[in-house]
Amino acid sequence: MYKILCLNKISPVGTKRFGEKYTFSPEVQEPDGILVRSASMHDMELGENLLAIARAGAGVNNIPVNQCIENGVVVFNTPGANANAVKELVLCSLFLTSRKIVSSIDWAKTLKGKGDEVSKLVEKGKSAFTGPEIQGKTLGVIGLGAIGILVANAAKSLGMTVYGYDPFLSVDSAWNLSRSVNHAQSLDEIFATCDYITLHVPLTPETKNLVGTASLQKMKDGVRILNFARGDLVDSDAMLEALQKGKVSAYATDFPDDKLLCAENVIAIPHLGASTPESEDNCAEMAVDELKEYLEDGNIRNS
Ligand code: MLT
Repeated sequence: MYKILCLNKISPVGTKRFGEKYTFSPEVQEPDGILVRSASMHDMELGENLLAIARAGAGVNNIPVNQCIENGVVVFNTPGANANAVKELVLCSLFLTSRKIVSSIDWAKTLKGKGDEVSKLVEKGKSAFTGPEIQGKTLGVIGLGAIGILVANAAKSLGMTVYGYDPFLSVDSAWNLSRSVNHAQSLDEIFATCDYITLHVPLTPETKNLVGTASLQKMKDGVRILNFARGDLVDSDAMLEALQKGKVSAYATDFPDDKLLCAENVIAIPHLGASTPESEDNCAEMAVDELKEYLEDGNIRNS
């Protein structure tokens, strides 16, 4: 019998694939494997029997990967399994940052109780919420993995001119993207060219604060920035200053940050990129299969 510790609620569509040879629960002691979504494992002891951890998601920042490597524990993730869900929220946010939808809805609610005056007040107040169309604008996609590629293709179909930057792009991906994306030679080209920039890279020491004082200065005035990858890709102090000065006209993020929460033109979403039933099922299925294949047969994929 294999023992699996489940650190988060994981879709039963996935866990039912464990079958009879497995016990899994949040209380399992001395597990052979761990199934985790977003719970931080950095302060956890890795048990002596632990062989593998599967993250039902793409990023592995909540897992002490180096410690796992030292202890021979294999870490799996589920690349692509939630890509469509994230893409949809990124597209939604492209519109949200353009058309001032969130602040206009908040404003419309203040009209409650104004009775017959509402339509007059709407006519008077609505010009404050004018915002540009995205068709014909330039979008920079930094990172062309599963999510970046979906975003790039969708943005192209919405009439945007898309620039992509990814120094690790595979030949296959480059071919698939060749009609959607202009391949930028450098980040600076993206910064100088794009009206909208969306981040789709993992958080590493190299990408931390990728958007900071220096890079912001290279961007177009009024740029709109979307971050559905990891909060620390953006330096919050630099972003706050850029928003206050109007250098950045809107910032949409899936990682609410205390410094930016109340800033004007920030759309902070509580890490919902992957929160659809479809994506939760996909991630759970892939993570459970990865654990099973490794524990039972020693097969490794997506580690
Ligand atoms: C990811 O890394 O794919 C997301 O953080 C997944 C999630 O929201 O659980």
